[in-house]
Amino acid sequence: MEIDAKTQFELMLASSIESQEFIKLTLGRYKGQEDGLRKIFAKIIRIKSGVKLSLTYSYETKEIVKNYSIDEGVTLIGSVIGNDFMSSVLFTIRQDIRLEYNKKQNSKISSSKPTFTNPLSVSPQEHNHKKNRHIEPEDNAYLTELGVTTKQGKIVKGMESKFRQINKFIEIIHSLLESSSLISRDHISVVDMGSGKGYLTFALYDFLNNLLGKKTSIVGIESRLDLVNFCNSLSKLVNFGSLHFKHEDIKNYMLREVDITIALHACDTATDDAIYKGIMAQSSLIVLAPCCHKQIRKQIHPTMALKDLLKFGILMERQSEIVTDGIRALLLEVSGYDTNVFEFISPDHTSKNAMIVGIKNDKYIDKKYLLDQIKDVKKLYGIRTHYLEALLFPQSSLSSDMTDVAQV
Ligand SMILES: C[S@@+](CC[C@H](N)C(=O)[O-])C[C@H]1O[C@@H](n2cnc3c(N)ncnc32)[C@H](O)[C@@H]1O
Repeated sequence: MEIDAKTQFELMLASSIESQEFIKLTLGRYKGQEDGLRKIFAKIIRIKSGVKLSLTYSYETKEIVKNYSIDEGVTLIGSVIGNDFMSSVLFTIRQDIRLEYNKKQNSKISSSKPTFTNPLSVSPQEHNHKKNRHIEPEDNAYLTELGVTTKQGKIVKGMESKFRQINKFIEIIHSLLESSSLISRDHISVVDMGSGKGYLTFALYDFLNNLLGKKTSIVGIESRLDLVNFCNSLSKLVNFGSLHFKHEDIKNYMLREVDITIALHACDTATDDAIYKGIMAQSSLIVLAPCCHKQIRKQIHPTMALKDLLKFGILMERQSEIVTDGIRALLLEVSGYDTNVFEFISPDHTSKNAMIVGIKNDKYIDKKYLLDQIKDVKKLYGIRTHYLEALLFPQSSLSSDMTDVAQV
């Protein structure tokens, strides 16, 4: 008797865990009833009570982790495959196995070369006693030089939230890579706009190069010469051969081709310059954590309907953030990016904790509709120019008719 694709997949999942060849599993194309749920990621962890299948439920704005015994976890996964999730990918050290359902609920199983040939740090043995992190504090000289860890591999007092932020950022990049074609590439190029002291830049290089095994080149762009010199010396010291820093204003940096554009807490319109450069270079991923929002704040002259609401300073501040970042997100969509905005770290660490990510796609977009939306929002708040809009649409942003789509 021939077994169906789903049963084959479930058997492969169970046997890969049994033989310790399992790396992880991703469930996507969610069609279930739960609001905001998008994906489930499964991996093996070892905690005090033993080896568990740890499932991360990834929602639009949050993640929830639940740990199950291996049998429970495998059964649960079996119950949602093909019912709630139409796409499943099992990563093992031997092969990647994909199970896809079409609209008629017909399933198809296929396999390809393994994305990961080393079991990252996810096998039950290696996970022993380790927290679920991408970057570990031990044996990472760059973290010590950056003052995040001691030489003995302990996190320096006061740097705990920085360390958490680094890991959270890497986790997000990892999951974005998995949602894009970049995960199967051998080489990945990154530009980090406003790289500062390089905490996240060094960690990203380490992760892509050493943990994911991709040939990685990263350029950090930074306007402070002291930081550029510091980072270049550190890169030499720790032998990160293709990690370089350039003393340049983002605005003037000639970006031709790049896979990932990052700008984390680059100040005010430096974020817009970074987005513009990323879009023009057709970057597959654009990842931003905006910082101050002065450019729009100065321009808001709300219409009567909003005047009394916005006489309160804090509400005006927050409105300028929402309007600035909301328009940025819509402009990314106009430029062909699947865009998402979410909270990326706890507000205890910084109030500037919104993240905007764009993944380039070829889907049809109703540009006119989006540009009309932007036009209406600007009108409501009495805004004449959004800096990024003016970069992307130099002709139309100042005129009353903004439906003319330039350049992009
Ligand atoms: C708040 S720090 C963030 C550093 C780093 N991205 C991080 O998240 O740890 C912002 C950095 O961007 C740099 N910067 C701001 N505007 C810039 C511009 N137009 N061109 C280059 N660097 C810029 C600043 O000098 C500063 O080092």
